[in-house]
Amino acid sequence: DWIMGDYISEAVTKIREQVGDEEVILGLSGGVDSSVAAALIHRAIGDQLTCVFVDHGLLRLNEGDMVMDMFAGKLHAKVIRVDASDLFLGQLAGVSEPEAKRKIIGGLFVDVFKSEAAKLKAGNASSKGATFLAQGTIYPDVIESGGAKSKKAVTIKSHHNVGGLPEQLGLKLLEPLRELFKDEVRELGVALGLPPEMVYRHPFPGPGLGVRILGEVKKDYADLLRRADAIFIEELRNFRDEASGKTWYDLTSQAFTVFLPVKSVGVMGDGRTYDYVVALRAVQTSDFMTADWAELPYALLKKVSSRIINEVRGINRVTYDVSSKPPATIEWE
Ligand code: XMP
Repeated sequence: DWIMGDYISEAVTKIREQVGDEEVILGLSGGVDSSVAAALIHRAIGDQLTCVFVDHGLLRLNEGDMVMDMFAGKLHAKVIRVDASDLFLGQLAGVSEPEAKRKIIGGLFVDVFKSEAAKLKAGNASSKGATFLAQGTIYPDVIESGGAKSKKAVTIKSHHNVGGLPEQLGLKLLEPLRELFKDEVRELGVALGLPPEMVYRHPFPGPGLGVRILGEVKKDYADLLRRADAIFIEELRNFRDEASGKTWYDLTSQAFTVFLPVKSVGVMGDGRTYDYVVALRAVQTSDFMTADWAELPYALLKKVSSRIINEVRGINRVTYDVSSKPPATIEWE
């Protein structure tokens, strides 16, 4: 039992002692851990921190702008946004095999981040160069890398991570969340002034929409998917379960939309359509190793389906995934 305010001041003191007057780089992804780490380190050392936000073009609707508004706009942190979407989409062209897509996205991400970090390390007129790399490693990550990690998870999908970067870059490591569990990280984020909607967001995979577009990734597909997914998430936040008073967003552990690159015939007004299909996926789970599909209310599914089909021209069919994990996985890819 500890009081968050005391925790923050202790953590701030520790970071100041460790960093002194040196400079720190942090890779901001928009996810909870890197966001909370950034907010905490910024509280401690202000402009000695520079965040690098690599936008791979596979983020959710307006996500990049939201990250910038929050960190650069509201917190006044130094953030470099690297718009690498053309690079990523270019390298992904023609590639449809899921592991190949993951390798390309993960590899490019590291390359882009490294080249930004190298510039920051070198310094310039207003900076003598960074010596620390900060990461949002949390306690469960520490345990995982200690060897308890499930072999299954590793062999089924190569996860997007940036292990070994500090050594490769010749930077010292700063990991202020190393002792915290996820729920403590979220509480800390709220105490630091991050919006609860950001801090209590469902997890989002590092390769982003790259693994939620089946087959080849194309900008048009990503644009359609982003709009459909935003509608699904908006309605999950709007619909409340009467018994608990909670929204369906909070009652599900993860929910998202998947783009299926197949066309089917539909009818709209007097005309025939021949457009793409999306699948809605919503699961309940405590550990993400097993998961049940969520029994969303029909009224919610109905609203989402009609909004997507009416508002997103190019999609004429919406399906709901009723597969549990195992044998299905949570993501489709
Ligand atoms: P699956 O689809 O394997 O997903 O049942 C389990 C959980 O892992 C997330 N996931 C990822 N998270 N990088 C991440 O940070 C990744 O490459 C990645 N792939 C899957 C997935 O969203 C789910 O929460």
